Amino acid sequence: MTSTSTSTVPEAIILVGGQGSRLRPLTLTTPKPMLPCAGVPFLTHQFLRLSEVGVKHVVLATSYRSEVFAAYYGDGGSLGLAIDYVTEVEPLGTGGGIRNVADRLTGGPDAPVIVLNGDVLSGHDLNAQLEVHREMAAAVTLHLVGVEDPRAFGCVPTDGDGRVTAFLEKTPTPVTDQINAGCYVFRRGVIDAIRAGVPVSVERDTFPGLLAADAVVQGYRQDAYWLDVGTPAAFVRGSADLVRGVLASPAVARPGESLVGGDALVAEDAVLSGGTTVGRGCVIGSGAVVEGSVLFDDVWIAAGATVTGSVIGTGARVGERSALRNVVLGDHSLVGADNELAEGARVWSSAVLPDATIRFSPGD
Ligand code: GTP
Repeated sequence: MTSTSTSTVPEAIILVGGQGSRLRPLTLTTPKPMLPCAGVPFLTHQFLRLSEVGVKHVVLATSYRSEVFAAYYGDGGSLGLAIDYVTEVEPLGTGGGIRNVADRLTGGPDAPVIVLNGDVLSGHDLNAQLEVHREMAAAVTLHLVGVEDPRAFGCVPTDGDGRVTAFLEKTPTPVTDQINAGCYVFRRGVIDAIRAGVPVSVERDTFPGLLAADAVVQGYRQDAYWLDVGTPAAFVRGSADLVRGVLASPAVARPGESLVGGDALVAEDAVLSGGTTVGRGCVIGSGAVVEGSVLFDDVWIAAGATVTGSVIGTGARVGERSALRNVVLGDHSLVGADNELAEGARVWSSAVLPDATIRFSPGD
């Protein structure tokens, strides 16, 4: 069935092929969309969000560490979805990645296809975006979000009807606070028309090309919750917001100050707060304080340690009384006792930082 009918159930593509370099070393083994966020892989929140608007078929555009996705989600049946996987041997960029999965789509040329960046948390109304797309008979409809400091992004001005007039590079004097939020509705035929087999960027090539051809590139502005979780600080914030219910996700049944995974052992006098997630099999010692942090599985935090705003990789250990603020510990790393790690520090996977305790022998 080809259609512009409102009854068409949209299909979706999620772009998950990036290297996630800003989240290294965590992304050396696990692609960014598979990092645990509020108790489940980040991508699960996006699958559930797509389910909520009736999507049944999702194609994952993978490249980096592609095998990890299928191993976890299989055919998607456990989420009530049919998931297809396509792997780029050489990364094709955002537009190239979308084009590369076109033959897995089943809708006709006018059918709407939702495309999500695999690293964005958004609370905007996807149904309303689809509705605007249909009403305007757009080639593509972009979610636009207003940000406080648009100088850090390229901006996307629109006219009085919400039609996009330009895609502007970063500048110290942006003409609007609107930026591309990384959630699109494409007319399927527009995807088919992207050049195949070569790297293409939607932001730099596809969208400007559509504007030049006078196609309807529609903006859907909604200033809902929006966060690109590409950096460690944003990743912990996104996870904490999901845990506390600042952004609702069907994957978080009971929002609260913390989320503790199965088999974790948390000392009675340890304090977990600020939307902290404690993964399965973790051990949190007496008097430890963990605030606004994400602990993957099998992490040990020893007695008296404090961990704030940090991401702690699988199997990592933090020694007694150590204090960590806004840091990333790679999988299976070890920070000995009495260390202090601050703002932006990254400990590589399996690295060992010895105890920092100064010991004096009798007679010194
Ligand atoms: P950084 O390396 O930290 O910048 O992260 P990233 O690699 O994820 O890049 P970026 O945040 O710009 O990517 C935005 C979205 O597009 C993410 O969901 C990526 O997974 C995805 N993406 C980026 N490049 C490609 C690509 O070449 N192919 C595919 N399929 N997806 C991509």
